[in-house]
Amino acid sequence: MSEEFELDWLDLREPHDAAARSEALAEALIARLPARPRLMDLGAGTGSLFRWLAPRIGRAQAWTLVDQNREMTEAAFDTIADRAEQVGLKVTFPNRRTLLVHAPGGAWRVEALIADLAHAPDNLPLHNADAVVCSALCDLVSVPWVERMAAAMRVPFYACLNVDGRDRFLPPVPGDAVVARGFARDQGRDKGFGGRALGPKAVAEIARAFGARGFEVQSAASDWVLRGGPATALMSELVFGHAEAALAQDRRQGAQISAWRERRLQQSSLGRLQARVGHRDVLALPPEAGWDEAPAVAPGLPAMAPALPRRRR
Ligand SMILES: C[S@@+](CC[C@H](N)C(=O)[O-])C[C@H]1O[C@@H](n2cnc3c(N)ncnc32)[C@H](O)[C@@H]1O
Repeated sequence: MSEEFELDWLDLREPHDAAARSEALAEALIARLPARPRLMDLGAGTGSLFRWLAPRIGRAQAWTLVDQNREMTEAAFDTIADRAEQVGLKVTFPNRRTLLVHAPGGAWRVEALIADLAHAPDNLPLHNADAVVCSALCDLVSVPWVERMAAAMRVPFYACLNVDGRDRFLPPVPGDAVVARGFARDQGRDKGFGGRALGPKAVAEIARAFGARGFEVQSAASDWVLRGGPATALMSELVFGHAEAALAQDRRQGAQISAWRERRLQQSSLGRLQARVGHRDVLALPPEAGWDEAPAVAPGLPAMAPALPRRRR
């Protein structure tokens, strides 16, 4: 059974994801892309990674957003078009399947592919990609999935925002350990990719599988650090999610888990809750030499990912 994700959840996390992803790793990926790169975004959802990465690449580029959920990819097209227009970029639809964002450095072409990634890479046109990218996907996949991808890939693989298990809510309250234990167990549940989900082992497994095939692997922390105001809604959802996962794993502790949830929600509504969700981004670069040209990024491109307000010190 594959995992369902809510549009609202992806909306809520987008600005926090944008603030958390490692700029250094994205730059290392961009340095290995050709003049007009073709990127395949696995589990693209509503296109959050496109909105963050495309302006950083800057130049003409083509994206294939892959997801099993048609509603997500329709929302991706709408959101990309809206955000691009909001920052003054013209958007056209040359046909029913293609969206073009007309940026100063060249057009950003976006197409969608509806596919069940459980069967990847057999059902993916990898020969048409200069890089395979994904955001918040690889903690759902399994060891055999990573093995198959590593064996098939000849281009950079970039996977950002993989959970690493270093979640923490502050201040400490009774029930933290029970919830953390249940949540950790739930992360290993089969999420529809042919085996136990990698959860916090995602980056280590990617490093092992791609490293064994001669890829150079680097990784960097991309934690969410959440406190007060703009993070309140996301923290409340995290509290619900942790409690629900822990309950599913250990019904006998139901009363303690429910009490934990109510206490944490109250702290969140009073602005007294802080949370850290540990993530890591990982980049695997193939052994071949890089591209000869290193095209310059068009200057001054507007960001399409929503920014978080600056926190007052
Ligand atoms: C956590 S969301 C991340 C979405 C997006 N990358 C982002 O960062 O906002 C995971 C995405 O993977 C997709 N997904 C999960 N299992 C899938 C599968 N078996 N085949 C294709 N897509 C899948 C979901 O529909 C969802 O859009």
